Amino acid sequence: MDKKVTVIGAGNVGATAAQRLAEKELCDVVLIDIVEGVPQGKALDLTEAAPIEKHDAHIKGFNSYEASAGSDIVIITAGIPRKPGMSRDDLIGTNAGIVKNVTKQVAAFSPDAVIIIVSNPLDAMCHVAFEASGFPKNRVIGMAGVLDSARFRAFIAMELNVSVENTHAFVLGGHGDTMVPLPRYSTVAGIPITELLSKEKIAALVKRTASGGAEIVSLLKTGSAYYAPASAAVEMAESILKDKKKILPCAAYLEGEYGINGLFIGVPVKLGAKGIEEIIQIKLTGEEQAALKKSADSVAELKTVLKKLGV
Ligand code: APR
Repeated sequence: MDKKVTVIGAGNVGATAAQRLAEKELCDVVLIDIVEGVPQGKALDLTEAAPIEKHDAHIKGFNSYEASAGSDIVIITAGIPRKPGMSRDDLIGTNAGIVKNVTKQVAAFSPDAVIIIVSNPLDAMCHVAFEASGFPKNRVIGMAGVLDSARFRAFIAMELNVSVENTHAFVLGGHGDTMVPLPRYSTVAGIPITELLSKEKIAALVKRTASGGAEIVSLLKTGSAYYAPASAAVEMAESILKDKKKILPCAAYLEGEYGINGLFIGVPVKLGAKGIEEIIQIKLTGEEQAALKKSADSVAELKTVLKKLGV
């Protein structure tokens, strides 16, 4: 393949992302993990599936970064996932150090890459990677909104018994309890769901979306969601690799957009070869803007925690 994507963290999200990237023949994949044998073993297993899955992407696993050199995209999933009873924010102490260390190596070996962050707490980890890489803001992007929107879309499709392909949804804000699903901009075959579902039903779907990650954690008990998070990261990677210029909700560094300054927060962006090529500013109602502000305040609090941790 003429494109290369490195996935850091060969755990549940990382290995699933590697599988989806390869099976879509988007790129060759370098899988890196701190545990010896794991990235090598998973890469070999995926390589042995290739004849059956009919793809020619090369997948290799390593414990060091040399083979990642010159990657077009680096997806960072390294870190610990949450367990039942934990919020994403509880991971900050452990994951901040891991993401900082990983990002420095990524930046040294792939200075022109676009970094997609998956590790949680997402918005805070974007800040860590932004500072540690020294990359421009268009090349550090957080995966959250695509996942949260996909969850919302899945619930809308289930509720109305329609194809998921007919659904479209927007979820803005931080990747946590304060995320801001936008029913007005969420549609089925172009029809806003506000015309198809009662207020109460929409409120229930919004609530389920906001706690979508926790619902999976409470079922799995030993880890967190990974199929949908991997799909979401790969959709972002595909738009960048193919320069598709898809408009997707992603965590982006804002400098005044939506009245927010100096914070990563989920907003609609255009993703192309250069990473974030545009931040799309949609009109929000007073209530939606207030919800986004509340979400931004909670990201700002985590930024303060990072400072206290010295990251
Ligand atoms: N360098 C490289 N890999 C690391 C490092 C490091 N410094 N530290 C940890 N890892 C690896 C682990 O060895 C493990 O294989 O990261 C991987 C994480 O995988 P899982 O434990 O399976 O976690 P996963 O479900 O993939 O979630 C990873 O993504 O969605 C978020 O909240 C989630 O922060 C979590 C991350």
